[in-house]
Amino acid sequence: MTGTPGYRVEPVPDPEQVGEDEALVEALRDEIRRDGPVTFAQFMVRALYEPGHGYYRREEPGPGRAGDFITAPEAHPIFGAAVGRLATQAWEALERPNPFTITEPGAGTGALAAGLLAGLRDDAGPMLDAVRYRPLEVEPARLTTLRARLAADDLEAHLTPDQLPDEPVESGAVIANEVLDALPVHRVVGRAGGLRELLVGLNGDGRFVQVEAEPTTPRLAERLEAEAVALDDGQVTEVCLGIDAWLAGATNHIARGIIVLIDYAAEPAAVHGPWRPTGTLRTFARHAVGADPFRHVGRQDITATVDLAAVRAAAARAGLAPLGETTAGELLAAAGDDLPSRYLGRPGATLQDALTLRSALARLLDPRGLGGFRVLAFGRGIPAGVRLDALRRLARPGSQAR
Ligand SMILES: C[S@@+](CC[C@H](N)C(=O)[O-])C[C@H]1O[C@@H](n2cnc3c(N)ncnc32)[C@H](O)[C@@H]1O
Repeated sequence: MTGTPGYRVEPVPDPEQVGEDEALVEALRDEIRRDGPVTFAQFMVRALYEPGHGYYRREEPGPGRAGDFITAPEAHPIFGAAVGRLATQAWEALERPNPFTITEPGAGTGALAAGLLAGLRDDAGPMLDAVRYRPLEVEPARLTTLRARLAADDLEAHLTPDQLPDEPVESGAVIANEVLDALPVHRVVGRAGGLRELLVGLNGDGRFVQVEAEPTTPRLAERLEAEAVALDDGQVTEVCLGIDAWLAGATNHIARGIIVLIDYAAEPAAVHGPWRPTGTLRTFARHAVGADPFRHVGRQDITATVDLAAVRAAAARAGLAPLGETTAGELLAAAGDDLPSRYLGRPGATLQDALTLRSALARLLDPRGLGGFRVLAFGRGIPAGVRLDALRRLARPGSQAR
């Protein structure tokens, strides 16, 4: 095709070019040499969150077309608008409190915030006036980009002045898209003699390698037992022990409201099933999926499929009541048939806008792609028996890509 006149071929991004964070790799090596192997969760914390070096602590945003993967809100603002309609229904169920504070942990560069707030403005209902939007980020540089993005859309006035993560909220929402999958996980392996843990050590050449050892905490076996998971001999899986602390920390501030968690997630039988002999851990760099977390340290995303049962149990322990579950594709489909035409009917809308929307919808509705991501909604103080239309199920959930 390269020889076809007039046909422009975009260069394919080369994941190898991302390299690795050499200072971080050296620091990790030194520590392992000095103190011995670390848990995979400890390694993942450093690789993703080490200030100035970890994948999420660099100024360049990972998600996005020019980055390493596309999230649903990055694919098209219509997704944020659909989430906004779910939030609106919760606001109505709470009898229209003002203010209504929407907190977004892991807000990134503001794709969800921009789509959601613009959607509320287009809806022209009374909700937007009540909304205070509070984006939270581990990387402060991304909030600067977020503010500029919202300012360009004339939506900046809805942002709270600073992060204030612990400021109590009387009524509101917490919305997190693709944050749970980045929480650090421990890696374990089933053995005839019982569960073992896979730590991170060094080989003779100074390369990171897996080291099998006694579990560093009984909580790993307890979690699998609670979920009735029995690993085959040699089967590897991941366990996220941080979900309880994260969910409690992300929601304790809110007295009444809705919590919406969107991620690629599955039931324990699917996450820890025997057909997943090497687990669900994967990496992303320049839109290429990989399986080796010891490469491109600090320069690639590391992620694992979220265990739905662990999230539900953590939510119950945090005092949250289930409101419903759906998939991202179904949330979009249930949001209203008027949404797509809104983006095409704008003054100045072009054929390119139509093509962009069409290709985004194909991804966002695909049950094997972004459309298969799970949406879990929980409530605190939402009147019993409330059913939110946006959570009604139209079809069976599919599996997830990414
Ligand atoms: C995969 S991106 C998703 C960004 C955005 N939510 C979206 O859907 O486009 C994850 C974002 O969450 C941030 N992040 C990761 N872990 C976090 C945590 N524990 N608390 C707050 N932000 C976090 C990262 O810096 C990154 O911007």
